[in-house]
Amino acid sequence: MPGVSTNQKLIDWVAEWESIFQPDAVEWCDGSAEEYDRYCEMLVEGGTFERLEDAKRPHSYLALSDPADVARVEDRTFIASERQIDAGPTNHWRDPAELKAEMLEFYRGSMRGRTMYVVPFSMGPLGSPIAHIGVQLTDSPYVAVSMRIMTRMGQGALDVLGADGEFVPCVHSVGYPLVDADGTARADVPWPCDGDNKYISHFPETREIWSYGSGYGGNALLGKKCFALRIASTMARDEGWMAEHMLILGVTPPDGETVYVAAAFPSACGKTNMAMLIPSLPGWKVETVGDDIAWMKFGEHGRLYAINPEAGFFGVAPGTSDTTNRNAMETLWGNCIFTNVARTDDGDVWWEDMTDEPPAHLVDWRGQDWTPASDSPAAHPNARFTAPASQCPSISPVWQDPAGVPISAILFGGRRATNVPLVTESTSWQHGTFLGSIMSSEKTAAAAGVVGEVRFDPFAMLPFMGYNVGDYIGHWLEIGAATDEAKLPKLFWVNWFRKSDTGSFMWPGFGENSRVLKWVLERVAGTADATETPIGNVPTPDSLDVSGLDLDAGTLQALLEVDATAWKDEVELINAHFDSIGERLPEAMRTELADLERRLNG
Ligand code: OXD
Ligand code: MN
Repeated sequence: MPGVSTNQKLIDWVAEWESIFQPDAVEWCDGSAEEYDRYCEMLVEGGTFERLEDAKRPHSYLALSDPADVARVEDRTFIASERQIDAGPTNHWRDPAELKAEMLEFYRGSMRGRTMYVVPFSMGPLGSPIAHIGVQLTDSPYVAVSMRIMTRMGQGALDVLGADGEFVPCVHSVGYPLVDADGTARADVPWPCDGDNKYISHFPETREIWSYGSGYGGNALLGKKCFALRIASTMARDEGWMAEHMLILGVTPPDGETVYVAAAFPSACGKTNMAMLIPSLPGWKVETVGDDIAWMKFGEHGRLYAINPEAGFFGVAPGTSDTTNRNAMETLWGNCIFTNVARTDDGDVWWEDMTDEPPAHLVDWRGQDWTPASDSPAAHPNARFTAPASQCPSISPVWQDPAGVPISAILFGGRRATNVPLVTESTSWQHGTFLGSIMSSEKTAAAAGVVGEVRFDPFAMLPFMGYNVGDYIGHWLEIGAATDEAKLPKLFWVNWFRKSDTGSFMWPGFGENSRVLKWVLERVAGTADATETPIGNVPTPDSLDVSGLDLDAGTLQALLEVDATAWKDEVELINAHFDSIGERLPEAMRTELADLERRLNG
């Protein structure tokens, strides 16, 4: 049965866009299993999907995208606020009226010969006071089925919306009409898109999302980065809550109570692995609430409660293995969509580092024969799995609790070979906000650019802030002022990637990060010792549990070291970073930097 809504505003909006897009048909999605299977079957018939071998990977599909459509396109991502200053120095700004006029040229008739799907979804558990409703119009059935995994999609969302609820309108077209303005038809292709002509546009003031030209990931599954981060961060600023690029974990000590921790990491810092961490410490339990995004609102007694607004994982496949992330591998047993991975001869999937030995023969992400002698990777480096979160062995029993989970600590992580200790506790919410604002990663020899060059990524939100970065930092300070400091999460800085003088990682990472979580929990409880340093509190060597770990005292000391001379250079970089944020940087951040400098000199 098609989805049914009594929301006149929604019905009118759909009709308005139908006249712009000019699809052959309109289908309201109900989100049922029957509908999902029907769309998947259609995608198989159209050549977008290949069904994997049921004996290997039940109820799962493989899609290979157009090579021109493989990742989020940050240079085509726009924040269209009335005033440029409100988008700030880190976003690509466009004038909203101009941008809409430009995009409408492409939108007009872009669904000719296709079906327009009306995809209602809830970001967050249905009816949760922290959740919000969106509706996406799309001409991509691949997007519709992906949204069913990634969100609570279908009739349930329409029911929550009711006759007069609010929704974030999201429009999306792949930009490949099957009939042109003169009525001439053309055949469809397995992965329709519009080459490099892409627009990922956000209108924060009217809370609208317009996406054109891409069918891939964050460009097209509009609930994720576009809504849950860029638009939601703006809603959160206006309404006094937080929309953050953070995983959420429940951590339970032996015989203790579960404590909830959120953590922000930029891309390529092992965020998914941390979200599904298997603790090496005996008797400890780590459970997954979310792997990418946290929405936090003040709940009972002035504490921040978080939900994971998503229902699935859209994770990078290459590098995922039983050694790096066994929970992810088990999550992927079936009911998944894989995009741009390689296919094995027996109808399963494979990607780099999934197994020690690559298979002797594969079909690569370009659909071509591949052997271990091939000089390009079999899976695209940004190949993805789309998997139901409910299948994760470490999923928390309360991950769908509409009330959310109370957050006791927030970690900010980066990838730093030098300077940044394994873990640093901030001394106040304002100081922690300062640490979040100077989160950074260093370029390695493998990446373009100057080796060791530091790229700042405040709160891991650089590509995801829907408004001016200076205002965003200011909003963190406002959140801090909204409740008693004692009720706020404690803020920590972590760095798993510090290297020795000989260039090797000093910390084993992965499940051993549970040792850092233990210290964090003990600091929250007030039971662990710490050493004050100019940048914050680091563990005393005895307070970090390294029992059973092959880590000598010198290495531990080096992991926790704060080198004042090196930090004076770092202060220069922070100064330049703050200059680049410009006039909206809160004065408190300059104060924090001056205090840091004073402590380094003192
Ligand atoms: C993601 C990202 O895909 O941060 O989660 O790019
Ligand atoms: Mn992310």
